[in-house]
Amino acid sequence: MPEIFDEIICRSGTGSLKYDMESRGRSADVLPLWVGDMDFRAPQCILDALSERNAHGIYGYTEPYGDYYDALLGWFSRRFGWSPQRDWRVLSHGLMNAIHIAVRALTQPGDAVMITQPVYQHFTEAPLFNNRRLVCGTLIENNLRYTIDFDEFERLITENSVKLYLLCSPHNPAGRVWTRDELEKIAEICLRHGTVVVCDEIHHDFIHGDNRHTIFSSLSPEAADITVLCTSPSKTFNVAGIQLANVFIKNPTLRERFLAEKAAMGLSQAPVSAILACRAGYSGGEPWLCGLLRYLDGNFNLISDYISSGKLPGIKFTKPEATYFAWLDCRALNMEDRALRRFFEEGARVLLSDGAGFGNGGSGFMRLNAACPRTVLKDGLDRIAGALCLSSR
Ligand SMILES: Cc1ncc(COP(=O)(O)O)c(C=O)c1O
Repeated sequence: MPEIFDEIICRSGTGSLKYDMESRGRSADVLPLWVGDMDFRAPQCILDALSERNAHGIYGYTEPYGDYYDALLGWFSRRFGWSPQRDWRVLSHGLMNAIHIAVRALTQPGDAVMITQPVYQHFTEAPLFNNRRLVCGTLIENNLRYTIDFDEFERLITENSVKLYLLCSPHNPAGRVWTRDELEKIAEICLRHGTVVVCDEIHHDFIHGDNRHTIFSSLSPEAADITVLCTSPSKTFNVAGIQLANVFIKNPTLRERFLAEKAAMGLSQAPVSAILACRAGYSGGEPWLCGLLRYLDGNFNLISDYISSGKLPGIKFTKPEATYFAWLDCRALNMEDRALRRFFEEGARVLLSDGAGFGNGGSGFMRLNAACPRTVLKDGLDRIAGALCLSSR
């Protein structure tokens, strides 16, 4: 059977943030391996659901309907053994939208909001854009394995009276699947200090190998009580442009405050395309996702092969436990961050995400989005290998 993920689909001229780079002053011959969406067509069940509505021709205000919640809750139950109650869920217009609402609803201006870096670049925005105090911890890195420094974690919470902790689980960019023990420790500390946990699980369908993801709210009823759990089908089925998140808030007080803030921001129904895509993906998208995970594993093997065969001297990589990102350790190239970015963009003609943008601990790293056809990835790796070869002369 031909591999559907091998197909190269032209995305230029579609307004793609990732591809239409000339409008951002970047050259079109640079290969984009940066923004967190994939170069694969969404599963057929989603295309069919959207085609059906296109044929119908009416896109009026739409609420989740039919078996939307059965599909959603069935997915969590099958894949993670978690069965939240229906009334815990709230819709928002994308994951970042959910995080901004939670920060505004559950903290006051001046309150401390904590993150642990390196972490998804936009995590700093919800606190900073809303006049909260940003507190940044730093993950411990040991031979490219990242862990949480729990002494620092609790000290920062105590010293700053942190009201809300923003957790990325599994972790972008370092690709960790936090173990149940690690998550329990986070919950225990946050419960002790009355800190709300806003848990971003947008990457939880990209779990590799024998790793097992634990949904934060499934840890215990007490953990669920302090948690705003943010999920989305957008990464899972490559439908990031639909902008929808399913948020689960067990605690009725937190949920009411979240809903009041959402209303105050003038947000009501989610886009009709988002509702349709979400329902279709969670109903019929599982075989597609299984194939995708196998394909991504092959892509990560390709990167490992390049490294182990010495084609990328100065760059280190270990396969991630989760996500479709390769977190490349370029520290041995001895370039400061601006020079490193220039080396990749101008020397190798590939656009990656700067590690430094992910905050503490990100300097000297670059994040490569490996969710593309293998020939495209190979082209990117060849470009980097060629530039490294030239620079060593
Ligand atoms: C950890 C994480 N959270 C949130 C987002 C953005 O989600 P959305 O587009 O739904 O706001 C991303 C996108 O890359 C991400 O990696």
